[in-house]
Amino acid sequence: MIAASTTVVAVIGDPVRHSLSPVMHNAAFAHAGLDWAMVALPVRAGDGAAAVSAARTMGVAGLAVTMPHKADVAAAADHRDATVQRLGVANTVVFDGGAATAYTTDGDGLVDAMVSAGHDPAGARVLIVGAGGAARSIVEAMTRRGARAVTVANRTVARAEECAACADADASVGAIGLDDVGDVAAAVDIVVNTTSVGMAGTDSEGALVVPAAALRPEHLVVDIVYHPLQTPFLVAADAVGAATLDGLAMLVHQAVRQQMLWTSQTPPASVLRTAALGALGLADS
Ligand code: ATR
Repeated sequence: MIAASTTVVAVIGDPVRHSLSPVMHNAAFAHAGLDWAMVALPVRAGDGAAAVSAARTMGVAGLAVTMPHKADVAAAADHRDATVQRLGVANTVVFDGGAATAYTTDGDGLVDAMVSAGHDPAGARVLIVGAGGAARSIVEAMTRRGARAVTVANRTVARAEECAACADADASVGAIGLDDVGDVAAAVDIVVNTTSVGMAGTDSEGALVVPAAALRPEHLVVDIVYHPLQTPFLVAADAVGAATLDGLAMLVHQAVRQQMLWTSQTPPASVLRTAALGALGLADS
């Protein structure tokens, strides 16, 4: 029950009413018996810095930050962790004694999901398809956590090059267009789709971002699209016997890290996943 004692965190975005963050975080707070609650607050583009200031004033304990505020919030915070400094975007704010510290948990969330599934990317060769914000976080986290070689493939090659530049200095990185994606996929351990290809309701609904013929049983295949949960890419990967991680994996694990930052407690990922599946009208699997 929400009472005067309840500690409030908020997810800000535009749009934000579709966000799965409140159901995931509130399930985790309830599971831990914490007197905490998350609400979704629509904040218009350009008002991210004002939202940080308002949240600080109102004693909000933390923010989850989604599009289009990730860069504005990173800039507006009083402190930024090393990954936020490198990427220039944040998805999490912690207020402590009035100071706002910005973090980004997206890339580490995906790496955590891989490690939980028994596929540590340390030492792995990785193909990342797409070069948007999600891809940048993933390239940074995977290379920081030991991926041996990362290739970024994107429709627009110049963006792939910018994305590859987010890699940790020790890693071997490359950037290619989509024409060569099949050849590269066949020679790596992990393939990650960060594009919207295959998403329901788009022009590419039903499409594959990597030719099915390039997929192997030894692959870990990851899609960050979760509508549908079983994307055509994951269905093709499953058909060849590859291991798969669906689009809720990163979403859930980035939220687990947010909970750790806000409450210093680590909720079971399964609690957040069950809540997200319920909100999507899907049974637990
Ligand atoms: P986010 O920040 O959420 O990752 P984004 O910045 O909009 O999203 O990036 C979307 C990614 O999907 C981009 O890599 C985009 O390719 P371009 O950089 O060439 O635009 C990719 N993408 C979207 N639709 C695509 C399609 N039909 N075919 C191939 N790539 C597509």
